[in-house]
Amino acid sequence: KRSYNVTLLPGDGIGPEVVAVAKDVLSLAGALEGVEFRFQEKLMGGAAVDAYGVPLPEETLAAAQASDAVLLGAIGGYKWDNNEKHLKPETGLLQIRAGLGVFANLRPAAVLPQLVDASTLKKEVAEGVDIMVVRELTGGIYFGQPRGFGKNDKGEDTGFNTEVYSASEIDRITRVAFEVARKRRGKLCSVDKANVLEASMLWRKRVTSLASEFPDIELSHMYVDNAAMQLIRNPKQFDTIVTNNIFGDILSDEASMLTGSIGMLPSASVGESGPGLFEPIHGSAPDIAGQDKANPLATILSAAMLLRYGLGEENAAKRVEAAVTETLNNGFRTGDIYSPGTTLVGCKRMGEEVLKTVESQSAVA
Ligand code: NAD
Ligand code: IPM
Ligand code: MN
Repeated sequence: KRSYNVTLLPGDGIGPEVVAVAKDVLSLAGALEGVEFRFQEKLMGGAAVDAYGVPLPEETLAAAQASDAVLLGAIGGYKWDNNEKHLKPETGLLQIRAGLGVFANLRPAAVLPQLVDASTLKKEVAEGVDIMVVRELTGGIYFGQPRGFGKNDKGEDTGFNTEVYSASEIDRITRVAFEVARKRRGKLCSVDKANVLEASMLWRKRVTSLASEFPDIELSHMYVDNAAMQLIRNPKQFDTIVTNNIFGDILSDEASMLTGSIGMLPSASVGESGPGLFEPIHGSAPDIAGQDKANPLATILSAAMLLRYGLGEENAAKRVEAAVTETLNNGFRTGDIYSPGTTLVGCKRMGEEVLKTVESQSAVA
């Protein structure tokens, strides 16, 4: 029997609600493939600030580093919004990404036929969209030095950040993106702001020079402002997008809305070696936390990515994805993806319905 250690980081807000559901789905799909999980749950984010006085306790990072894969819910909330930077939940998230070295964040945004009506775009625009955003995750303006608060020469308060990318940081994310594009439809669009920013000028230069290693891939470049517009105008022109940390953050939230809801989008973050980090792209949704309203499908689909990219358990991953499709076919919808004629359910019930469909698969397997 194959056995894996998985660290669960439920986090804050809706995080614990969606992780509880995804854990059960992961267990059951694994069991049907002869896979066993040993779960350990650790605190991070605001929950860890409250319990330990830091957003990423050493114990949590050590457990994550020692495991085979990490499943994260979400962190953050009003309570900690005005904390000093080192006591912010978000700081803990950046620390665990850096601590695990997961520089490549894969954020797929595919419009499922069952959810075309949930998109705010016209059916003919949304239908068939299937994009993979490859976001650089451990560099750029999120991590660049110098950063901080200061004073300008008029004595006014200032806040400043620095975007820095080294050639090797750009090269490694670009190679991942070319490989991803190769397994998809063979098109890669690199998004930058090379008309203004030096970090983007180097980005474009490196991406262009690496293209010769991937002659089978059709490479294009686009400025981020245009990309934001094109994603809404004609999203089907995109296959794989590679971009820096902050542009990837923003464009993936935008892309989520093509699919109907941010509550649908999973992600996988991987590095050169060591465990991957798997998390929905959404946040802790404090506006609906504790009300059993969250859509758990993004986290369930993140568990599928954990199985595929984190553990190489492709069959179990397919089971989870098939169960999500089947549950949508059965008409179940959380509020964020609801449309008339479907059955409105909460987070827990959605989880139960997904579990039921995984169970029913065992008969045919
Ligand atoms: P958010 O993604 O938490 O919420 C944005 C909107 O989407 C809200 O209306 C929310 O109710 C809705 N939403 C999000 N996930 C949903 C789900 N699964 N089902 C149904 N609706 C969902 O973004 P925000 O409001 O800008 O941020 C809230 C907090 O989350 C902040 O503290 C922020 O820093 C943090 N955050 C954390 C992560 C993370 O942990 N990876 C990501 C983004 C934001
Ligand atoms: C995300 C979030 C984080 C990010 C924040 C909470 C640090 O928005 O995971 O997309 O910007 O990366
Ligand atoms: Mn984000």
